[in-house]
Amino acid sequence: MTLELECRDFLLGLKVILRYSVFADSEAIVRSVELVNEGKEVLYLERILSACVDMDWENGDLLTLCGSWARERHMMRRPLAFGKQLVSSSRGESGHQDHPFLAVMKQGTGQEQGEVWAMHFVYSGNFIAEAEVSQFDSLRILMGINPEGFEWVLNPGESFTAPEVVCVYSDQGLGKMTHTFHDLYRNHLIRSPYLHKNRPILINNWEATYFDFNTQKLLEIAREAGKRGIEMLVMDDGWFGKRSMDEGYLGDWKVNEEKLPGGLPFLVEQVNKLGLSFGIWFEPEMVSPNSELYRAHPDWAMQLPGREPTQSRAQYVLDLSRPEVVDYVYESVAAVLRSAPISYVKWDMNRQMTDVGSGFLGREHQGELFHRYVLGVYELQERLNREFPELLLENCASGGARFDPGMLYYSPQIWCSDDTDAVERLSIQEGTALLYPLGAIGAHVSDCPNHIVGRITPFETRGHVAMAGTFGYELDITKLTEGEKRQIEGQVALYHQFAPLIREGDYYRIASWGENHRYDCWQVVAKDKSEALVTYVQVLAEPNCHSRRICLKGLLPEAKYQVEETGKVYTGALLMYGGLLLPRMEGDFQSKMIHLMLFTE
Ligand code: GLA
Repeated sequence: MTLELECRDFLLGLKVILRYSVFADSEAIVRSVELVNEGKEVLYLERILSACVDMDWENGDLLTLCGSWARERHMMRRPLAFGKQLVSSSRGESGHQDHPFLAVMKQGTGQEQGEVWAMHFVYSGNFIAEAEVSQFDSLRILMGINPEGFEWVLNPGESFTAPEVVCVYSDQGLGKMTHTFHDLYRNHLIRSPYLHKNRPILINNWEATYFDFNTQKLLEIAREAGKRGIEMLVMDDGWFGKRSMDEGYLGDWKVNEEKLPGGLPFLVEQVNKLGLSFGIWFEPEMVSPNSELYRAHPDWAMQLPGREPTQSRAQYVLDLSRPEVVDYVYESVAAVLRSAPISYVKWDMNRQMTDVGSGFLGREHQGELFHRYVLGVYELQERLNREFPELLLENCASGGARFDPGMLYYSPQIWCSDDTDAVERLSIQEGTALLYPLGAIGAHVSDCPNHIVGRITPFETRGHVAMAGTFGYELDITKLTEGEKRQIEGQVALYHQFAPLIREGDYYRIASWGENHRYDCWQVVAKDKSEALVTYVQVLAEPNCHSRRICLKGLLPEAKYQVEETGKVYTGALLMYGGLLLPRMEGDFQSKMIHLMLFTE
């Protein structure tokens, strides 16, 4: 249900429609703004934010999610001080660095107690989120499209709609805020047919081979993977043009038949014969200087007149404000998907924007390019979903640089980070799960020493951490020991047992290793309280310590729960207020999953 408030500025001839949407099953309010030029003059929009809330304030904190490539969405909590505190992106994507989210909370707010006001932007481009404490101890929080580099020309009769901001209030700490976001996104945002389904357990060849693969290598991986219960092979970057490193051929989406003789139809058929479905990687929004596409249409790359555009990862960004570019990009992706039974697409975007100019838009409209680009991306993904409704789409951007609710509307899962190290992932996934349901978080088990940080963690721990996400593998299975392959079989079975609970349940944060520097713990409880799954990771072993007692959350206090592994039965109250005693573990990076079921005598 949406309340619309119409405001008019008769001098300018401007109508402003403020929209507040509420949902019967949620405490969130979704706010957006539309401007209509009802006058006779052209209006130039230089700043149009989507939500602003003012309140009285005493002491409290600001919570944001920030980071970098391979270190996305770490939680950052700091005292709210006098003046303006800003998080933003002007990179053309929501970004690795800041996330389009902020929360302000009263002093002493924790997981279960305290008041929280949060905003999250349903948008995938430049944004600002700001908290300002004034001279009179009032607080203003606001969110919207970043005004930097933005100017929209609104001709008489035209309208402009600013993207939605999800506003959430919680009087029971961050935990309740998290539940509100998770439920809202599951019930009202993600619309993929995969939302409530187990995702196929995939194996992606990126960390296994990088660009050095051919049909034979992929089939070796698929054959071994199939034997262990893995259900899909995803062919990552390097299958098109003559691309043998991360330079070149983007835009020429034709299979490299030297690597893959017989092309995709042959490869996919062979993979299917091994019992696996097939997925493929694209980076459709980009063009390489050495591509046929760029030679034919140099003006399709974003650029400033008379200047050579800057390369990043040896590529340029396509100007998606041009309809013919959107058509070209769509047709080149769709043609590949039509050529073979492809079940999954990883849609990547690997550079931030510079040289933000369009040869198409005309001088007056250059300030529209950033936003028109995002609209172009949305149109592409809309078309893809329409033509291929059964396709499982996973968005990605250099890891997690465009992990936002805007992209989540088009794809039920998003690759969380290129950092697949189990310990690094604890903080990344904690920050991501603050807002996003676990079923949306792309997570894989990868090889050790980890390719990003060089850390060696047990195979079991890597599995437990990846299971707090979509779950899959990203390693050369043909090089694993028989013992590790057996562990894969065990993890596949665990995934099938727990995926529905992890995907649909309520998520509780029990302990954060970022805070205590020793261990991490989270829990998922079924909506009907019939079962719960606790994951505990001992990051660093401690000398001479007592066994740890973990207080669970979200159970029925009067009910009895049985721990699957030991058969022991406890009341919900005892588990929540007394705690569950964990067996001591030897060594760093150890983990444990504990499954509890409602017990009836
Ligand atoms: C990005 C992605 C990776 C991989 C590479 C391929 O970095 O995040 O997972 O697909 O691109 O070039």
